Amino acid sequence: MHIDILTLFPEMFPGYLNESILKRAQAAGLLHIGLHNLRNYATGKHRITDEPPYGGGGGMVLKPEPIFTAVETIIANLQSPKEERLEIGDWRLPIILLTPQGRPFTQKVAQELAQHERLLLLCGRYEGVDERVRQHLVTDEISIGDFVLTGGELAAMVIVDAVARLIPGVLGAEDAAEEDSHATGLLEGPHYTRPETFRSWSVPEVLRSGHAANIIRWRREQALRRTWQRRPDLLLTAELSEEDRWFLGKLAAGER
Ligand code: ADE
Repeated sequence: MHIDILTLFPEMFPGYLNESILKRAQAAGLLHIGLHNLRNYATGKHRITDEPPYGGGGGMVLKPEPIFTAVETIIANLQSPKEERLEIGDWRLPIILLTPQGRPFTQKVAQELAQHERLLLLCGRYEGVDERVRQHLVTDEISIGDFVLTGGELAAMVIVDAVARLIPGVLGAEDAAEEDSHATGLLEGPHYTRPETFRSWSVPEVLRSGHAANIIRWRREQALRRTWQRRPDLLLTAELSEEDRWFLGKLAAGER
């Protein structure tokens, strides 16, 4: 997968993206990240990328010209000779603006984005971007939560991270992402590792029993319990079996 990121602050990215799993994914050729400095696409002696808003009010707004030029240049350059030409608006190249006004980012959205060969992420800054960028350039707008960051850079890194680990081969075990919290529609239950007893707190007996079916059932019940306690809203959309519903009924009745 190839992800291009357009930002005024490309230096914010290498520290995070060049460590651990994302570093390995890039070394293995599974993930390519192109960092593009918006300032390089601004014209004039001062390469101005932002101006005060029309109509007054505080803050600065990112100008449309450098953003359009940057995206058009990136798209023109990403064609290899045998590749079909991609145009702005082509569904195969989502152009995503990171903004608190975007649709909420969830595991489901990460899965959707992971199906694409390419993504282009635009990091907003200051008061926002000129509305014409929204109307005529971007194909999607995403928010990573109901809070306001100083810019879209952290949000872009969050998206790269969540999407990259869904690319086949990026995580060690092929199915490691499938049991994640949220991937199943439920929160994950507890995990334990050695030692068996730490400061008198022991690992639950069932996990040491070696009884595979009991362990699977116990884990499922723990996931249901944790979701019920912390995020009951998720139970409305999770896929639940008869047995799950029975267990939740017991939980609600205070019997478990
Ligand atoms: N830029 C500023 N705040 C943001 C948020 N919550 N999500 C995405 N981009 C942002």
